[in-house]
Amino acid sequence: MYNKFAYLYDELMVDIDYKDWYLYIKSIFEKFCNEPKKVLEMACGTGNLSYYLAMGGYDLTCFDLSSEMLSMAYNKLHKFKNVKILNQNMIDFNINQKFDSVISICDSINYIQDREDLLLTFKNVREHLNDGGIFIFDINSYYKLKHIIGNNTFIEDGEGVFYVWQNYFDESDDIVEFYLSFFVLDKDDKYIRFDEQHFEKAYYTNEIVELLRQASFREIHCYDGFTFNEPNEKSERVNFVAIV
Ligand SMILES: C[S@@+](CC[C@H](N)C(=O)[O-])C[C@H]1O[C@@H](n2cnc3c(N)ncnc32)[C@H](O)[C@@H]1O
Repeated sequence: MYNKFAYLYDELMVDIDYKDWYLYIKSIFEKFCNEPKKVLEMACGTGNLSYYLAMGGYDLTCFDLSSEMLSMAYNKLHKFKNVKILNQNMIDFNINQKFDSVISICDSINYIQDREDLLLTFKNVREHLNDGGIFIFDINSYYKLKHIIGNNTFIEDGEGVFYVWQNYFDESDDIVEFYLSFFVLDKDDKYIRFDEQHFEKAYYTNEIVELLRQASFREIHCYDGFTFNEPNEKSERVNFVAIV
């Protein structure tokens, strides 16, 4: 669960180009001749993609489970009249309106650790989409979670923040446990430590496709991340497009 990490998230995600990600989403809208008006962004985090969607003029609703992440999102988004921010859970959200598109990026879907809950999420997304509506999301691939992130340790020594990210891949349930330790320099030049634990579930591409089918999506496509190529066995990010 994102707690204090929320306040460092943008600093540590500085390598991710959210504008490019936004342009990829726009190219998906164009490819499927679907220019939505009402967009729902699930697990919006600190609002990095939401910001570009807001700038793009979409009528945007975005939500996340973590109030800390939402407070960072609020700082970026409160000036936009076309944006609503909510605190909800992907598994059982209820917004009482339909959207032309639902989007969730940056492996937020891997945070759903149980297949049954993922199916509930997909059914719920389906219920919130208009006819012809388009659902766009990505996952960290099974390959990436097992062979690149799993059982590996990463260290980042940034300006005023040092962090250690230790990961364990549990073969029994395909869940990667992330143990994050942050050391943040305070105003007295002392490092303050805090820790967080996160879990991502590794899903196979065909498992996700099957769950989308069970949730009654009519047309389902999957791509190697940020492209329109088929995913391969070494794809690290798989992007899905599912149409009602
Ligand atoms: C890796 S971050 C991605 C955030 C954002 N989409 C981005 O691109 O930066 C994953 C996000 O998923 C959120 N999240 C995890 N489980 C959730 C759930 N069940 N419902 C809603 N949000 C959830 C977390 O709070 C976090 O903000």
